[in-house]
Amino acid sequence: MKLPDFPWDALAPYGQKARAHPQGGIDLSQGTPVDPTPDFIQEVLRASANSPSYPVTTGSKELRESMERYGREKLGASGDFDVLPTIGSKEMVALLPFLLEAKRILIPKIAYPTYKVGGLLNHAEVIEVDIDPSSWPTEGVDLVWLNSPSNPTGRVHSDSEIESVLAWSRDNSIPVASDECYLPFPDSKKARSILDFADGENTGLIALHSLSKRSNLAGYRAAFAIGDSLLIKKLLEIRKHMGMMVPLPVQRAMAVALGDEQHVAQQAERYRSRRRKLASALTEIGYQIDHSEAGLYIWCTNGRNDWDCVAWFADRGVIVTPGSFYGDSGNQHIRIALTATDENIEAAAIRIKS
Ligand SMILES: Cc1ncc(COP(=O)(O)O)c(C=O)c1O
Repeated sequence: MKLPDFPWDALAPYGQKARAHPQGGIDLSQGTPVDPTPDFIQEVLRASANSPSYPVTTGSKELRESMERYGREKLGASGDFDVLPTIGSKEMVALLPFLLEAKRILIPKIAYPTYKVGGLLNHAEVIEVDIDPSSWPTEGVDLVWLNSPSNPTGRVHSDSEIESVLAWSRDNSIPVASDECYLPFPDSKKARSILDFADGENTGLIALHSLSKRSNLAGYRAAFAIGDSLLIKKLLEIRKHMGMMVPLPVQRAMAVALGDEQHVAQQAERYRSRRRKLASALTEIGYQIDHSEAGLYIWCTNGRNDWDCVAWFADRGVIVTPGSFYGDSGNQHIRIALTATDENIEAAAIRIKS
């Protein structure tokens, strides 16, 4: 099986160039959180350091209650559903086709590359589609990925778009995996979980949630899946055999993090303010901002080739990501992550304009 080249390797020379800038490089490429992990979460991790026994794959009682409550109160889940902690959500994105034995998978045309990689790892056929299911194949299709708010575009799907996907999934009995890791960061639009649309009928639905960005916990690897209890049971059974367990100190930290919304609101405000600053600098120099309605990224174009734009930014000491990382049709866009300190966002805006 041939996996695509690891995209970030191709960006490395531009990173080097940007870092040679007299005032240093500003990395707006990878989207790794830089704001501190809230103190109250760090304290729980520290207090949980004594952990001699194996954790359970399904999650501690405390964590399970916390994920279930979050599902009901924040995601609008109802009816029969189950939850399962995961070691960050990327591993679940990559493993889901294998765990569900999916062999023909639909993914968004412009998307987080791991949806495709997960399909390839399971020797599946991966088909890129737009959001409108009336044009989707059904024959042999056994999994569909949704991602709203999207990485890289920041697009939030409308209620009617999600409702159409849900109706299509039910009509054709095809499972939908909805990657909702950017849901906690609304901006001009607010995304809703697919479970909120399901009205308690969760058959075929799995939503993925992550604390990496929500709680600045990317280093802890803390995430979870929630949805159809039969599908979750299937994932659990295989993951028990594979030893895919979230470490117990992380489970404890996750349980308290999920119970607090104040730090999330504060983080969401940080990203909104950074988006405003960068978006205004970008429009001033002639970029058009597309989507970018929520989440962590600005998706923009000036009509030129993405790599030329990446080079232009690198000359100014700013590292951004070429849109073609996320699909061929992204080759006239760049993705700019809002994951830099306020000082660096300010400095990047000044460099862009000068
Ligand atoms: C759309 C999307 N899904 C999943 C992930 C994985 O995040 P994590 O493994 O930190 O939960 C990312 C990370 O950038 C992402 O952009």
